[in-house]
Amino acid sequence: MGQPLPGNVRLPSAPPGRKRSDSVGFAIVGLGGYALNQMMPRFEQAERAHIAAIVSGNPEKLRRVGDAYGVAEDARYSYEAFEKIASDDRIDAVYIVLPTGLHAEWAIRAFAAGKHVLCEKPMALSSADCERMIAASRRADRKLMIAYRSHFEPYNLEAMKLMQQKAAGEIRLVRTEQSYRMGPTSPSENWRTSRALAGGGPLEDFGIYGLQSALYLTGEMPESISATTFRPAGDARFAEIFAHVSSQWRFPSGAVAQLVTSYDSAGTNFAHVRGTLGALIMDPATSYSGQKMRLEGQNTRDLSPGDPAVQFAGQLNNFTDAVRDGATIRTPGEMGLRDLRLIEAIYASAEAGRTVRLAPDGRRRS
Ligand SMILES: NC(=O)c1ccc[n+]([C@@H]2O[C@H](COP(=O)([O-])OP(=O)(O)OC[C@H]3O[C@@H](n4cnc5c(N)ncnc54)[C@H](OP(=O)(O)O)[C@@H]3O)[C@@H](O)[C@H]2O)c1
Repeated sequence: MGQPLPGNVRLPSAPPGRKRSDSVGFAIVGLGGYALNQMMPRFEQAERAHIAAIVSGNPEKLRRVGDAYGVAEDARYSYEAFEKIASDDRIDAVYIVLPTGLHAEWAIRAFAAGKHVLCEKPMALSSADCERMIAASRRADRKLMIAYRSHFEPYNLEAMKLMQQKAAGEIRLVRTEQSYRMGPTSPSENWRTSRALAGGGPLEDFGIYGLQSALYLTGEMPESISATTFRPAGDARFAEIFAHVSSQWRFPSGAVAQLVTSYDSAGTNFAHVRGTLGALIMDPATSYSGQKMRLEGQNTRDLSPGDPAVQFAGQLNNFTDAVRDGATIRTPGEMGLRDLRLIEAIYASAEAGRTVRLAPDGRRRS
Protein backbone atom coordinates (compact mmCIF):
# COMPACT_ATOMS: atom_id res chain seq x y z
CA MET A 1 0.00 0.00 0.00
CA GLY A 2 1.53 3.33 -1.03
CA GLN A 3 2.10 5.96 1.64
CA PRO A 4 2.65 9.71 1.15
CA LEU A 5 6.17 11.14 1.03
CA PRO A 6 7.15 11.81 4.67
CA GLY A 7 7.07 15.58 5.32
CA ASN A 8 10.65 15.97 6.54
CA VAL A 9 12.45 14.25 3.67
CA ARG A 10 15.32 16.06 1.97
CA LEU A 11 15.91 14.55 -1.45
CA PRO A 12 19.35 14.98 -3.09
CA SER A 13 19.67 18.12 -5.20
CA ALA A 14 21.64 16.19 -7.84
CA PRO A 15 21.65 12.45 -8.57
CA PRO A 16 24.62 10.52 -7.06
CA GLY A 17 27.69 10.00 -9.25
CA ARG A 18 28.59 6.71 -10.90
CA LYS A 19 30.19 3.94 -8.83
CA ARG A 20 32.97 1.49 -9.70
CA SER A 21 32.12 -1.32 -12.10
CA ASP A 22 31.73 -3.98 -9.39
CA SER A 23 29.27 -1.86 -7.38
CA VAL A 24 26.23 -3.83 -6.19
CA GLY A 25 22.93 -2.51 -7.57
CA PHE A 26 20.13 -2.40 -4.97
CA ALA A 27 16.37 -2.25 -5.38
CA ILE A 28 14.98 -0.35 -2.37
CA VAL A 29 11.60 -1.80 -1.40
CA GLY A 30 9.40 0.63 0.55
CA LEU A 31 10.08 4.37 0.37
CA GLY A 32 9.30 5.27 3.98
CA GLY A 33 10.97 7.35 6.67
CA TYR A 34 13.98 5.14 7.33
CA ALA A 35 14.77 4.44 3.67
CA LEU A 36 14.45 8.07 2.59
CA ASN A 37 15.93 9.84 5.61
CA GLN A 38 18.68 7.48 6.69
CA MET A 39 19.72 4.74 4.30
CA MET A 40 19.27 6.06 0.76
CA PRO A 41 21.43 9.16 1.38
CA ARG A 42 24.15 6.87 2.87
CA PHE A 43 24.67 4.84 -0.32
CA GLU A 44 26.88 7.69 -1.51
CA GLN A 45 29.35 6.86 1.32
CA ALA A 46 29.42 3.11 0.64
CA GLU A 47 32.34 1.79 -1.39
CA ARG A 48 30.44 -0.30 -3.90
CA ALA A 49 26.69 -0.02 -3.40
CA HIS A 50 24.31 2.02 -5.52
CA ILE A 51 20.56 2.45 -5.86
CA ALA A 52 19.61 0.80 -9.14
CA ALA A 53 15.86 0.51 -8.64
CA ILE A 54 13.04 1.53 -6.30
CA VAL A 55 9.81 -0.28 -5.41
CA SER A 56 6.82 1.59 -4.00
CA GLY A 57 3.03 1.63 -3.93
CA ASN A 58 2.95 5.39 -4.50
CA PRO A 59 3.50 6.42 -8.19
CA GLU A 60 4.13 10.08 -7.31
CA LYS A 61 6.84 9.06 -4.85
CA LEU A 62 8.37 6.73 -7.45
CA ARG A 63 8.63 9.71 -9.79
CA ARG A 64 10.02 12.25 -7.30
CA VAL A 65 12.42 9.88 -5.53
CA GLY A 66 13.43 8.23 -8.81
CA ASP A 67 14.27 11.61 -10.39
CA ALA A 68 16.19 12.77 -7.31
CA TYR A 69 18.31 9.59 -7.14
CA GLY A 70 18.75 9.23 -10.91
CA VAL A 71 16.91 5.88 -11.04
CA ALA A 72 16.04 4.93 -14.62
CA GLU A 73 12.30 5.22 -15.33
CA ASP A 74 12.05 1.55 -16.23
CA ALA A 75 13.66 0.64 -12.88
CA ARG A 76 10.82 2.18 -10.82
CA TYR A 77 8.59 -0.73 -9.86
CA SER A 78 5.16 -1.06 -8.24
CA TYR A 79 4.67 -3.95 -5.81
CA GLU A 80 2.50 -5.65 -8.45
CA ALA A 81 5.39 -5.56 -10.94
CA PHE A 82 8.01 -6.71 -8.42
CA GLU A 83 8.51 -10.15 -9.99
CA LYS A 84 9.88 -8.44 -13.13
CA ILE A 85 13.08 -7.61 -11.22
CA ALA A 86 14.13 -11.21 -11.92
CA SER A 87 15.10 -10.23 -15.47
CA ASP A 88 16.53 -6.83 -14.53
CA ASP A 89 20.31 -7.32 -14.48
CA ARG A 90 20.87 -3.86 -13.00
CA ILE A 91 19.55 -5.26 -9.71
CA ASP A 92 21.86 -7.56 -7.71
CA ALA A 93 20.21 -7.16 -4.31
CA VAL A 94 16.97 -6.12 -2.66
CA TYR A 95 16.90 -3.93 0.46
CA ILE A 96 13.66 -4.52 2.36
CA VAL A 97 12.56 -1.45 4.33
CA LEU A 98 8.89 -2.41 4.71
CA PRO A 99 6.80 -2.80 7.88
CA THR A 100 8.16 -5.81 9.74
CA GLY A 101 5.18 -8.06 9.12
CA LEU A 102 5.95 -7.88 5.39
CA HIS A 103 9.68 -8.72 5.58
CA ALA A 104 9.35 -12.49 5.19
CA GLU A 105 7.03 -12.39 2.19
CA TRP A 106 9.13 -9.86 0.26
CA ALA A 107 12.46 -11.44 1.17
CA ILE A 108 11.19 -14.78 -0.13
CA ARG A 109 9.95 -13.11 -3.33
CA ALA A 110 13.33 -11.44 -3.77
CA PHE A 111 15.15 -14.78 -3.42
CA ALA A 112 12.70 -16.31 -5.93
CA ALA A 113 13.78 -13.52 -8.31
CA GLY A 114 17.41 -14.60 -7.78
CA LYS A 115 18.51 -11.53 -5.78
CA HIS A 116 20.51 -11.13 -2.57
CA VAL A 117 18.61 -9.64 0.40
CA LEU A 118 19.46 -7.00 2.98
CA CYS A 119 16.49 -6.96 5.36
CA GLU A 120 15.67 -4.36 8.00
CA LYS A 121 15.41 -5.37 11.65
CA PRO A 122 13.66 -7.16 13.16
CA MET A 123 14.03 -9.94 10.61
CA ALA A 124 10.34 -10.95 10.84
CA LEU A 125 7.59 -11.43 13.41
CA SER A 126 8.13 -15.13 14.14
CA SER A 127 10.99 -17.61 14.25
CA ALA A 128 9.04 -19.75 11.77
CA ASP A 129 9.13 -16.89 9.23
CA CYS A 130 12.87 -16.41 9.90
CA GLU A 131 13.43 -20.08 9.16
CA ARG A 132 11.48 -19.79 5.89
CA MET A 133 13.63 -16.80 4.89
CA ILE A 134 16.87 -18.64 5.65
CA ALA A 135 15.66 -21.70 3.70
CA ALA A 136 14.74 -19.47 0.71
CA SER A 137 18.18 -17.84 0.83
CA ARG A 138 19.88 -21.25 0.79
CA ARG A 139 17.65 -22.56 -2.01
CA ALA A 140 18.45 -19.52 -4.14
CA ASP A 141 22.13 -19.57 -3.09
CA ARG A 142 21.88 -15.85 -2.33
CA LYS A 143 23.08 -13.82 0.69
CA LEU A 144 20.82 -12.75 3.54
CA MET A 145 21.81 -10.02 5.98
CA ILE A 146 19.81 -8.35 8.74
CA ALA A 147 20.35 -4.60 9.02
CA TYR A 148 21.62 -4.46 12.61
CA ARG A 149 23.56 -1.23 12.19
CA SER A 150 25.06 -1.19 15.72
CA HIS A 151 27.47 -3.97 14.67
CA PHE A 152 29.13 -1.37 12.43
CA GLU A 153 29.01 1.57 14.85
CA PRO A 154 32.28 2.57 16.59
CA TYR A 155 30.86 3.01 20.13
CA ASN A 156 29.16 -0.36 20.14
CA LEU A 157 32.18 -2.06 18.53
CA GLU A 158 34.45 -0.52 21.20
CA ALA A 159 32.01 -1.58 23.93
CA MET A 160 32.06 -5.19 22.66
CA LYS A 161 35.86 -5.14 22.70
CA LEU A 162 36.07 -3.62 26.19
CA MET A 163 33.65 -6.17 27.60
CA GLN A 164 35.61 -9.02 25.98
CA GLN A 165 38.76 -7.60 27.60
CA LYS A 166 36.88 -7.50 30.95
CA ALA A 167 37.42 -3.74 31.28
CA ALA A 168 34.69 -3.69 33.97
CA GLY A 169 35.75 -7.06 35.41
CA GLU A 170 33.37 -10.01 35.38
CA ILE A 171 29.95 -8.87 34.18
CA ARG A 172 27.26 -9.13 36.84
CA LEU A 173 24.40 -6.84 35.77
CA VAL A 174 23.17 -5.46 32.46
CA ARG A 175 20.34 -2.95 32.19
CA THR A 176 18.92 -1.63 28.93
CA GLU A 177 16.00 0.64 28.17
CA GLN A 178 14.60 1.86 24.87
CA SER A 179 11.54 4.04 25.24
CA TYR A 180 9.63 6.89 23.71
CA ARG A 181 6.15 8.26 24.02
CA MET A 182 4.06 7.66 20.92
CA GLY A 183 1.55 10.38 20.03
CA PRO A 184 -2.16 9.63 19.59
CA THR A 185 -2.65 7.08 16.80
CA SER A 186 -4.34 3.78 15.96
CA PRO A 187 -3.60 0.59 14.00
CA SER A 188 -5.36 1.90 10.88
CA GLU A 189 -3.20 5.07 10.90
CA ASN A 190 0.18 3.71 11.96
CA TRP A 191 1.54 0.24 11.15
CA ARG A 192 3.71 0.34 14.30
CA THR A 193 0.53 -0.16 16.36
CA SER A 194 -0.84 -3.01 14.22
CA ARG A 195 -0.24 -6.51 15.53
CA ALA A 196 -0.17 -7.98 12.00
CA LEU A 197 2.60 -5.58 10.92
CA ALA A 198 4.46 -4.89 14.18
CA GLY A 199 3.93 -7.96 16.42
CA GLY A 200 3.91 -6.94 20.08
CA GLY A 201 5.18 -3.40 19.30
CA PRO A 202 8.04 -1.69 21.17
CA LEU A 203 10.15 -4.80 21.76
CA GLU A 204 10.37 -5.71 18.07
CA ASP A 205 10.83 -2.08 16.99
CA PHE A 206 13.12 -0.44 19.52
CA GLY A 207 13.67 -2.81 22.46
CA ILE A 208 15.47 -5.15 20.07
CA TYR A 209 18.46 -2.82 20.42
CA GLY A 210 18.56 -3.58 24.15
CA LEU A 211 18.15 -7.29 23.45
CA GLN A 212 21.04 -7.18 21.01
CA SER A 213 23.21 -5.13 23.41
CA ALA A 214 22.62 -7.59 26.25
CA LEU A 215 23.86 -10.38 23.95
CA TYR A 216 26.89 -8.72 22.41
CA LEU A 217 28.06 -7.02 25.60
CA THR A 218 27.94 -10.21 27.68
CA GLY A 219 28.89 -12.53 24.80
CA GLU A 220 26.39 -15.02 26.24
CA MET A 221 22.95 -16.43 25.51
CA PRO A 222 20.43 -16.36 28.38
CA GLU A 223 19.53 -19.69 29.96
CA SER A 224 16.26 -18.38 31.37
CA ILE A 225 13.92 -15.43 30.90
CA SER A 226 11.01 -14.11 32.93
CA ALA A 227 8.95 -11.27 31.53
CA THR A 228 5.90 -9.10 31.89
CA THR A 229 3.90 -6.99 29.43
CA PHE A 230 1.37 -4.20 29.90
CA ARG A 231 -1.43 -2.95 27.68
CA PRO A 232 -3.63 -0.14 29.07
CA ALA A 233 -7.35 -0.45 28.35
CA GLY A 234 -9.16 2.12 26.22
CA ASP A 235 -6.07 3.55 24.48
CA ALA A 236 -6.24 3.25 20.66
CA ARG A 237 -2.42 3.17 20.47
CA PHE A 238 -2.43 -0.07 22.42
CA ALA A 239 -5.55 -1.72 21.01
CA GLU A 240 -3.31 -4.38 19.42
CA ILE A 241 0.23 -3.95 20.79
CA PHE A 242 1.84 -3.65 24.22
CA ALA A 243 2.73 -0.32 25.83
CA HIS A 244 5.66 -1.80 27.82
CA VAL A 245 7.62 -5.04 27.76
CA SER A 246 10.01 -5.86 30.56
CA SER A 247 12.16 -8.96 30.92
CA GLN A 248 14.78 -10.36 33.26
CA TRP A 249 17.42 -12.73 31.91
CA ARG A 250 19.88 -15.04 33.64
CA PHE A 251 23.07 -16.03 31.85
CA PRO A 252 25.11 -19.22 32.43
CA SER A 253 27.91 -17.10 34.01
CA GLY A 254 25.48 -15.93 36.68
CA ALA A 255 25.12 -12.43 35.20
CA VAL A 256 21.58 -11.07 34.97
CA ALA A 257 20.06 -8.57 32.56
CA GLN A 258 17.01 -6.38 32.89
CA LEU A 259 15.52 -5.13 29.61
CA VAL A 260 12.74 -2.57 29.47
CA THR A 261 11.08 -1.03 26.44
CA SER A 262 8.09 1.25 26.18
CA TYR A 263 6.06 3.25 23.66
CA ASP A 264 4.47 5.27 26.46
CA SER A 265 7.23 6.87 28.49
CA ALA A 266 9.63 9.75 27.90
CA GLY A 267 12.43 8.93 25.48
CA THR A 268 15.60 7.13 26.45
CA ASN A 269 18.00 4.62 24.91
CA PHE A 270 20.70 3.30 27.22
CA ALA A 271 22.74 0.21 28.06
CA HIS A 272 24.56 -0.14 31.39
CA VAL A 273 26.91 -2.96 32.25
CA ARG A 274 28.07 -3.39 35.83
CA GLY A 275 30.96 -5.71 36.55
CA THR A 276 33.13 -6.69 39.48
CA LEU A 277 35.60 -3.82 38.83
CA GLY A 278 33.54 -1.07 37.27
CA ALA A 279 30.80 -0.18 34.85
CA LEU A 280 30.21 0.73 31.23
CA ILE A 281 27.56 3.41 30.71
CA MET A 282 26.23 3.90 27.16
CA ASP A 283 23.64 6.67 26.98
CA PRO A 284 22.48 7.11 24.32
CA ALA A 285 23.60 3.64 23.32
CA THR A 286 22.38 2.80 19.81
CA SER A 287 21.15 6.03 18.20
CA TYR A 288 21.85 7.22 14.66
CA SER A 289 24.30 9.76 16.19
CA GLY A 290 25.25 11.44 19.47
CA GLN A 291 26.40 8.28 21.31
CA LYS A 292 28.02 8.77 24.72
CA MET A 293 30.03 6.18 26.57
CA ARG A 294 31.82 6.17 29.92
CA LEU A 295 33.93 3.48 31.53
CA GLU A 296 33.84 3.75 35.34
CA GLY A 297 36.22 2.07 37.75
CA GLN A 298 39.91 2.31 38.47
CA ASN A 299 40.55 4.50 35.43
CA THR A 300 37.25 6.30 34.87
CA ARG A 301 37.07 7.95 31.46
CA ASP A 302 34.74 9.12 28.72
CA LEU A 303 35.28 7.30 25.45
CA SER A 304 34.71 8.60 21.93
CA PRO A 305 35.94 5.88 19.59
CA GLY A 306 34.63 7.33 16.32
CA ASP A 307 31.76 8.86 14.40
CA PRO A 308 28.51 6.84 14.74
CA ALA A 309 27.50 8.04 11.24
CA VAL A 310 29.81 5.43 9.66
CA GLN A 311 27.46 2.63 10.77
CA PHE A 312 25.14 2.98 7.76
CA ALA A 313 27.80 2.72 5.06
CA GLY A 314 29.70 0.12 7.14
CA GLN A 315 26.67 -2.13 7.02
CA LEU A 316 26.37 -1.71 3.25
CA ASN A 317 30.09 -2.43 2.83
CA ASN A 318 29.87 -5.69 4.77
CA PHE A 319 26.92 -6.79 2.63
CA THR A 320 28.57 -5.89 -0.68
CA ASP A 321 31.85 -7.55 0.40
CA ALA A 322 29.80 -10.69 1.05
CA VAL A 323 28.06 -10.48 -2.33
CA ARG A 324 31.20 -9.73 -4.34
CA ASP A 325 33.99 -11.48 -2.37
CA GLY A 326 32.20 -14.01 -0.18
CA ALA A 327 33.09 -12.10 3.02
CA THR A 328 31.41 -13.28 6.22
CA ILE A 329 28.21 -11.39 7.05
CA ARG A 330 28.43 -10.07 10.63
CA THR A 331 24.66 -9.98 11.07
CA PRO A 332 23.28 -12.98 9.15
CA GLY A 333 19.76 -14.39 9.05
CA GLU A 334 20.74 -16.84 11.80
CA MET A 335 21.26 -13.86 14.14
CA GLY A 336 17.82 -12.50 13.26
CA LEU A 337 16.33 -15.95 13.92
CA ARG A 338 18.09 -16.19 17.30
CA ASP A 339 16.63 -12.83 18.29
CA LEU A 340 13.09 -13.80 17.27
CA ARG A 341 13.41 -16.93 19.41
CA LEU A 342 14.27 -14.71 22.38
CA ILE A 343 11.40 -12.34 21.60
CA GLU A 344 9.06 -15.35 21.48
CA ALA A 345 10.46 -16.56 24.82
CA ILE A 346 9.80 -13.13 26.36
CA TYR A 347 6.17 -13.18 25.22
CA ALA A 348 5.74 -16.82 26.23
CA SER A 349 7.01 -16.05 29.73
CA ALA A 350 4.75 -13.00 30.10
CA GLU A 351 1.75 -14.94 28.83
CA ALA A 352 2.35 -17.92 31.11
CA GLY A 353 3.40 -15.82 34.10
CA ARG A 354 6.46 -17.97 34.73
CA THR A 355 10.14 -18.29 33.93
CA VAL A 356 11.03 -19.87 30.58
CA ARG A 357 14.17 -21.99 30.27
CA LEU A 358 16.21 -21.80 27.07
CA ALA A 359 18.61 -23.97 25.10
CA PRO A 360 21.86 -22.30 23.93
CA ASP A 361 20.29 -21.57 20.51
CA GLY A 362 17.40 -19.68 22.13
CA ARG A 363 14.79 -22.43 21.69
CA ARG A 364 12.49 -22.92 24.65
CA ARG A 365 13.21 -26.01 26.75
CA SER A 366 9.89 -25.96 28.55
N1 LIG B 1 17.72 0.14 11.49
C1 LIG B 1 17.07 1.18 12.00
O1 LIG B 1 17.64 2.02 12.72
C2 LIG B 1 15.63 1.38 11.65
C3 LIG B 1 15.01 2.59 11.93
C4 LIG B 1 13.68 2.77 11.55
C5 LIG B 1 13.00 1.74 10.93
N2 LIG B 1 13.64 0.56 10.71
C6 LIG B 1 12.92 -0.56 10.08
O2 LIG B 1 12.62 -0.21 8.74
C7 LIG B 1 11.36 -0.73 8.37
C8 LIG B 1 10.48 0.42 7.87
O3 LIG B 1 10.32 1.38 8.91
P1 LIG B 1 10.02 2.92 8.60
O4 LIG B 1 10.24 3.65 9.85
O5 LIG B 1 10.74 3.36 7.38
O6 LIG B 1 8.46 2.85 8.28
P2 LIG B 1 7.58 3.85 7.43
O7 LIG B 1 8.17 5.22 7.44
O8 LIG B 1 6.18 3.71 7.87
O9 LIG B 1 7.74 3.30 5.92
C9 LIG B 1 7.32 2.03 5.56
C10 LIG B 1 7.06 2.01 4.05
O10 LIG B 1 6.67 0.68 3.71
C11 LIG B 1 5.75 0.72 2.63
N3 LIG B 1 4.53 -0.04 2.96
C12 LIG B 1 4.10 -1.13 2.26
N4 LIG B 1 3.00 -1.63 2.81
C13 LIG B 1 2.69 -0.87 3.87
C14 LIG B 1 1.64 -0.88 4.82
N5 LIG B 1 0.69 -1.83 4.79
N6 LIG B 1 1.63 0.08 5.76
C15 LIG B 1 2.58 1.02 5.82
N7 LIG B 1 3.61 1.09 4.94
C16 LIG B 1 3.67 0.15 3.96
C17 LIG B 1 5.45 2.19 2.35
O11 LIG B 1 6.29 2.54 1.26
P3 LIG B 1 5.69 3.01 -0.16
O12 LIG B 1 4.75 4.15 0.14
O13 LIG B 1 6.89 3.40 -0.90
O14 LIG B 1 4.99 1.81 -0.73
C18 LIG B 1 5.92 2.91 3.60
O15 LIG B 1 6.32 4.22 3.30
C19 LIG B 1 10.83 -1.46 9.60
O16 LIG B 1 11.15 -2.82 9.52
C20 LIG B 1 11.61 -0.83 10.75
O17 LIG B 1 11.76 -1.71 11.85
C21 LIG B 1 14.93 0.37 11.04
